[in-house]
Amino acid sequence: MIRIAAVGDVHVDKDVVGRYRPALEELPDRADALLIAGDLTRHGTVDEAKCFATEFGGLGVPVVVVLGNHDHQSDQQDDVTRVLTDSGITVLEGQATVLELHGHRLGIAGTKGFGGGFKGACASNFGEREMKDFVGTAERYADALRDALRSVEVDALVALTHYAPVPETLAGEPLEIFAFLGCYQLGQAIDDAPTALALHGHAHHGSERGRTPGGVPVRNVAHPVIKQAYNVYQLLTDVVDTKDTQLANV
Ligand SMILES: [Fe+2]
Repeated sequence: MIRIAAVGDVHVDKDVVGRYRPALEELPDRADALLIAGDLTRHGTVDEAKCFATEFGGLGVPVVVVLGNHDHQSDQQDDVTRVLTDSGITVLEGQATVLELHGHRLGIAGTKGFGGGFKGACASNFGEREMKDFVGTAERYADALRDALRSVEVDALVALTHYAPVPETLAGEPLEIFAFLGCYQLGQAIDDAPTALALHGHAHHGSERGRTPGGVPVRNVAHPVIKQAYNVYQLLTDVVDTKDTQLANV
């Protein structure tokens, strides 16, 4: 069994440093790795990236992240990525990483993803150049996720995104903004590989649990949704979700 701790949308700045750390110190006793589904910072500045690295670095377990839209706000995403990487945090964008855990190979493929909507209510690749660019961006991220998922041979495969791959985990958000919270192409990419679990964030008012059309469990781990420092999910076992009530609220 592999245990994955996951959270998203922690939005760290200098005022948040210290809030997660007490719960994170206990994480190595509860999970084998920590995955973070984007919106690591408030405005994507280098200073905030350093705050995030202080709060979430050096945990004693591997930390794997994707960036979110907030981490792009200052157009410093490359510098943000460099700060995190220099702190020993793995940042995925259209790539996969493999962790050796308890004799098992865990593959994590990640991308920020993009919006565009879901079947029956989505943007179409037609008309103005701006609209074609918008849909093309969503397709590019989804294609990168598909390629990353297919690039590794592992015992358990996880897809990590910021934007949502299914509408189920958006339940609670206004229907009018679903198209800005995720896109169906990410779900298709997840279903085109032997994915065991898909994790995302972004939808602060959404719901935790969903499933892709192909049956892959999807979990929205945005911090305002899970309401604790992280949730723990199990792989290579029949039960994905753990009931861990001992974690500190932050
Ligand atoms: Fe967020």
